[in-house]
Amino acid sequence: MDILKIEGKARLEGRVKAAGAKNAMTKLLVASLLSDKKCIFYNVPNIGDVEITVNLCKELGSKVEWDRERGIIEICTKELKTTYIPQRFSGANRIPILLIGALLGRTRQDIIIPTVGGDAIGKRPVDFHIEALQKFGAIVEYRDIRREGAYFAHAAEGLTGNYIHLPFPSVGATENTILAGVRAKGVTVIKNAATEPEIVELILFLQKLGAIISLDVDRTIRIEGIEQFNEVEHTVMTDRIEAASFGMAAIATQGKVFVEGAQHLHMISFLNKIRELGGGFNVKSDGIEFFYQAPLRGGVHIETDVHPGFMTDWQQPYAVLLTQGNGSSVIHETVYENRFGYTQTLKEMGADIELFKQCLGGKKCRYALRGYHHSIIVKGNTPLIGKKITIPDLRAGFAYVMAALVASGESIISGVSFLDRGYEKIVHKLQSLGANIKRIQTKPDTKPIKPILPTETINTDAKHRTLA
Ligand code: EPU
Repeated sequence: MDILKIEGKARLEGRVKAAGAKNAMTKLLVASLLSDKKCIFYNVPNIGDVEITVNLCKELGSKVEWDRERGIIEICTKELKTTYIPQRFSGANRIPILLIGALLGRTRQDIIIPTVGGDAIGKRPVDFHIEALQKFGAIVEYRDIRREGAYFAHAAEGLTGNYIHLPFPSVGATENTILAGVRAKGVTVIKNAATEPEIVELILFLQKLGAIISLDVDRTIRIEGIEQFNEVEHTVMTDRIEAASFGMAAIATQGKVFVEGAQHLHMISFLNKIRELGGGFNVKSDGIEFFYQAPLRGGVHIETDVHPGFMTDWQQPYAVLLTQGNGSSVIHETVYENRFGYTQTLKEMGADIELFKQCLGGKKCRYALRGYHHSIIVKGNTPLIGKKITIPDLRAGFAYVMAALVASGESIISGVSFLDRGYEKIVHKLQSLGANIKRIQTKPDTKPIKPILPTETINTDAKHRTLA
């Protein structure tokens, strides 16, 4: 179990390279399972979620070579060794559920996927995924097996394309549906699809792979099923969450950081909110420089939304930035119902933040009148004081690191494995920018290994059963 020791008040200055995008790379690895051809990825982030996804692919039969230093993965899945993901991957992250979309068109075997995990930021159901996959003619259901459940999926006759209208432009459900569409017979039309840059990245990769796929302006994705695939080389897009995180940390510490690789196109709504707050940025040809130029103003109103809106994954570090602005600001979270849990710790550090169940904003919001604390008012300017902190999820984790960098005194942060899932070499990068941060190993890392269900519970019964 590692901890971080941060002594606040150092200005971040220098240059840092943002890594390849976690939420693109993990999906591209899953998409490579559609094909029996070799795929080579460049700019691969060396993070926990890629590691988990590589292990999932290996479990299924992929041959993988990962050069972590050079950020290159070569993957080829000539054939599937199994279609059963063991329970030890249960709750690992959000990726296993996407395996269903990728595998259903490739096998007539039962696919068994343990319960999906991910950060504790709301209920995070997968009902849209399941309903969409069922529209292809697949049988997909959740079954309780003793202590832990699993998703069972099967398409005895293969998949047939269909018209699918998603109830909400969910990123994961769009990805799962696209993956199923690539090997389905005929045409698949996805309406109300998510159009995040990471989805476009998946579409670009699939087009190279051989897919006939288009994205229309009205959230419509159209896919014609194919059977022949190409070898692919693909350079993964920069992580726009990491890029924004470093930008915000630079401004919050009154510093100046050039974030190499930051893509202007993917950060338009973010940059507008930096400017509104009084933060500085210069877009250059190979990245974006972020800098403090004058006291931050506050008085900002943010409503998180699906793309092209302000990302829900930017709001946590942005809230820390708001604690340093002069005046009151509002954040209305419309994507997740429960993503302000992290504010309690910020309050204990000295932030003035109030939570509201009401929608503090005019955007259409699924959480209106449902009793969730999904809006906040942040009153600045408040000095923060270092403290002992436990990270509850990835993005709250970066917000805490940023708060500790701004705070006076020392902060001790545990739960570092959350950060490792999504931020490559975070300590090294922050040190190179002048942060007083150390990673200390308190005990040798012993990852909890989930018990594998007794073989008779799954293998002999469920694994070979036809889901009728
Ligand atoms: N939702 C449903 N039913 C579904 C699917 C989603 O109700 O079947 C709801 C969710 O509960 C949530 C909303 O729809 O309230 C949006 O969920 P979405 O499916 O879009 O999110 P996701 O695919 O699970 C990805 C990222 C998240 C990011 C969201 C939104 C990955 C692995 N995760 O999650 O990233 O916040 O899209 O952009 O791609 C992170 O990187 O820290 C992270 C949480």
